[in-house]
Amino acid sequence: MIRVDQAGEIGANWIYKGQIAVLGKDKKVGPVIQEMWEQEKYHLRTFDKIIVDHRVRPTLLRPLWETAGYVLGVGTALIGKEAAMACTEAVETVIGEHYNDQLRELLHIDNNEVADLRKIIKEFRDDELHHLDTAAPLYNTLSFIIQNGCKAAIWITTRI
Ligand SMILES: [Fe+2]
Ligand SMILES: [Fe+2]
Repeated sequence: MIRVDQAGEIGANWIYKGQIAVLGKDKKVGPVIQEMWEQEKYHLRTFDKIIVDHRVRPTLLRPLWETAGYVLGVGTALIGKEAAMACTEAVETVIGEHYNDQLRELLHIDNNEVADLRKIIKEFRDDELHHLDTAAPLYNTLSFIIQNGCKAAIWITTRI
């Protein structure tokens, strides 16, 4: 779980990094994207620490998730602001569901450390759903493709 979560936050950081590279100077969406990115930086720092504390093996595919995230961020931002927001909407839909699935599973474990992890995941889930609300779902086909890409990435990272 922790490996997948860290990988997800890596991907999120590189998506926003890519979008900022293109839209960072845009007066309307620039600050919005930047604010979401700041939260992702905090999410990633937290999971970086948890990975070390619990000696979790990080994903071997980090360069792939970084590249995929950056390409997705730059690519959608180049199409336009709506596409960039559709990307956020699609990604955060899947990540919100993913964190909820984890929370349901962790609810059955009575352990202090798991309780701490549950608190973190809950907080981040709320952040992701807030990002989702921030972005408007205007590009349905694009959103569908990105959602399935995220689901595939989660499936792969539980294994590699
Ligand atoms: Fe995040
Ligand atoms: Fe997010």
